[in-house]
Amino acid sequence: MSLKAAARNVRENAYAPYSGFQVGAAIRGASGAIYAGCNVENVAYPQGTCAEAGAIAAMVAAGETRLSEVYVIADGPEPVAPCGGCRQKLREFGAEDVPVTMATLAGTEARTTLGALLPGAFATTHMGLSAEADAS
Ligand code: THU
Repeated sequence: MSLKAAARNVRENAYAPYSGFQVGAAIRGASGAIYAGCNVENVAYPQGTCAEAGAIAAMVAAGETRLSEVYVIADGPEPVAPCGGCRQKLREFGAEDVPVTMATLAGTEARTTLGALLPGAFATTHMGLSAEADAS
């Protein structure tokens, strides 16, 4: 299955009764395996989680901590942009040059990279630690 198909499929399971905005995310781990996640909202709004967070959790639960590709899809008027928090979450496991495709259900795609989405990302170097400890 393609990253795109995985993201489209998992979006169908999104639990978004409050926003009505269903999001699907799929990431490819370094092994080549695909991990998918959808947004899961909560009546206590801040407790909701983004699709990207779900996909990352699935990857880590499977034993992988590096990702090579990201695909995010939603039914909006323009390709869905990962929120700021998710950009940092994705950057934890992927390098600056990791390609990110943002898509609409209607078929429009926009391509970018993790580095372009989050320039100047907070990293271990800001704490005076070795860059080897993170994705830099
Ligand atoms: N959302 C995601 O899951 N990923 C994104 O990239 C953008 C926003 C979710 C969070 C919330 O459930 C809904 O979309 C509306 O903000």
